[in-house]
Amino acid sequence: MTKKQYSFDYEHFATAKELPQQDQELVEMAIEAAKKAYAPYSNFNVGASILLDNGTIVTGNNQENAAYPSGLCAERVALFYANANYPENAVKTIAVVAMKNNELVSTEVAPCGSCRQAILETETRFKTPIKMIMGGKAGFNIINNATELLPLSFTGDSL
Ligand code: THU
Repeated sequence: MTKKQYSFDYEHFATAKELPQQDQELVEMAIEAAKKAYAPYSNFNVGASILLDNGTIVTGNNQENAAYPSGLCAERVALFYANANYPENAVKTIAVVAMKNNELVSTEVAPCGSCRQAILETETRFKTPIKMIMGGKAGFNIINNATELLPLSFTGDSL
């Protein structure tokens, strides 16, 4: 038996004001998107904004459904829109925030496993690292590529 270890570095910023200007703008856009989420069942409003390599920013939010699994997370709504409409453009950065009662949730939001898998697909597709900004009242976690968010991952190379 060999013991192996996986570790990754990430950054934490206590407030949005400490983030670079471009990232602050993405966070603001994610917050505005969260306010427009359709989340009548969880009341957990999530917003995502995506910066493409041509400077375009697209946003999305969670879209729930009475048949629960038919809904979709904010990250994938935004990501699939970006990939559908800008198939030539790499995704550079994704900012995501979650809100309850019109306020940011206390801890930094963490994308679900399916979103991590979808984000990794886009990172692999465009061979460009995707920076993730994950916000909450406690601040912002920043990770510099999606690969680190999903260790021992399944990708097209596995097929
Ligand atoms: N949700 C997201 O949109 N993104 C996440 O990163 C976590 C969860 C949504 C799915 C569902 O509409 C609600 O939040 C509660 O799980």
